[in-house]
Amino acid sequence: MKNIVVFASGYGSNFQATVDAINKGEIKARITGLITNKSEIHVIERAKRNGIPNIVIDPRRFSEPDQYAQVMLKALSKWEPNIIVLAGYLLKIPPLVVDAYAGKIINIHPSLLPKYSGKGYYGLYVHQAVLDNNEKETGCTVHIVDNIYDNGPILAQAKVHVFENDTAQDISKRVRAKELELLPKVISSLINEPV
Ligand code: GRF
Repeated sequence: MKNIVVFASGYGSNFQATVDAINKGEIKARITGLITNKSEIHVIERAKRNGIPNIVIDPRRFSEPDQYAQVMLKALSKWEPNIIVLAGYLLKIPPLVVDAYAGKIINIHPSLLPKYSGKGYYGLYVHQAVLDNNEKETGCTVHIVDNIYDNGPILAQAKVHVFENDTAQDISKRVRAKELELLPKVISSLINEPV
C-alpha cells in the first residue's frame, strides 16, 4: 500500500476530494498523515473524522529554520509518504524538506501556471487578477514542487471560461470544481507509476 501525506492550511476541500477518491477505490493508497501550519482550521476536523493523524507545525514557534524543517522531516519519516500533496498549503516548504523528497511533492494552484503565480497570488487574489487582466479563460494547475513558489514542472491543468460579469467568487467556484476533479486524477496516476 502506498502512502500519501497531505499539507493544508484551511478548509480542506481538496483534502476531502482525495479522501473520497481513496474511499471509492480511485486512488489505491492511504493518507497516513496531515500537516498543517494552524490549529483552528476545518481540514483538521476532516482528518479526525476520517481517522487520519495530524500535526500542527507553526514556523513561528521555531527560532531556527533548520529546527522547523527537522520537525517536518521527523513527521514525514514516521508517515513514510510515497507522495506529498500540498492541498491548499499557504507556506513555502523548507528547502531541506523539498530536497529530501525531490520530485515527490505536488501542489495544486488555482491558475493556469505560469500565470498568476508566486507570493501574494492565492485565493481570491488570483481570480481578481484574472478579471483585472480581462482573461477569457483561467483554471488550475498541479505541478511538482521545487524551491521556488509555484514554479516546478507542470503535471496537469484544467481550464474554465471566464464570463462577462463574473465576480472573483464566481471564478473561484468554477475553478474549485475543476480542482476537485484534477487533483485526485493526478494523484491516482502518480500512485500507479512504478517506483
Ligand atoms: C485551492 O484553491 C488550491 O488551489 C489552493 O488553495 C485552495 C485550497 O482550498 N492552493 P481547500 O482548502 O482545498 O478547500
